[in-house]
Amino acid sequence: MRDKNSGLTPGALFIAAFGAGLLATTAATTAFAADADHGKAVFQTCAACHTDRPDAIGPSLRGVVGRKSASVDGFHYSDAMKRANLTWDEANLRDYLKDPQAKVKGNRMPFGGVSNGTDLDDLVAYLKDYK
Ligand code: HEC
Repeated sequence: MRDKNSGLTPGALFIAAFGAGLLATTAATTAFAADADHGKAVFQTCAACHTDRPDAIGPSLRGVVGRKSASVDGFHYSDAMKRANLTWDEANLRDYLKDPQAKVKGNRMPFGGVSNGTDLDDLVAYLKDYK
């Protein structure tokens, strides 16, 4: 069952480790359609790289919903991301976060993706309010 995961990226491992810690919380809460509080917890995985610091590994995600791709001043995006020419609406964010390399081939976000649909819904709900 797990041999499919042998090519885990550091990001995916991070999620796996983090996911285990989350189980206790999720079990205790009722699952709603989109739970921004849970999304905030999922976002902790992203926050390792996406901070507001100038030396962060990833660009700030404040106000990302509705923003053009590769538009944070001073962040050195990959050529792939610069060429992507996307608007980060909910649909594009979902596609990208589910499988970053499938959506923007060759981008250099070292993150495997969010495979759990509920986590993805909640994460996008949280990002809408992250300003
Ligand atoms: C290990 C570091 C790392 C992690 C973890 C990570 N990212 Fe990223 N992210 C990056 C980098 C680096 C880029 C820039 C990619 C490029 O230029 O090709 C990026 C780019 C992005 C972009 C495009 C931003 C823009 O301005 O166009 C979005 C959206 C994004 N990440 C969302 C997320 C979310 C949401 C998570 C958590 C589920 C996450 N990332 C986890 C490093 C990371």
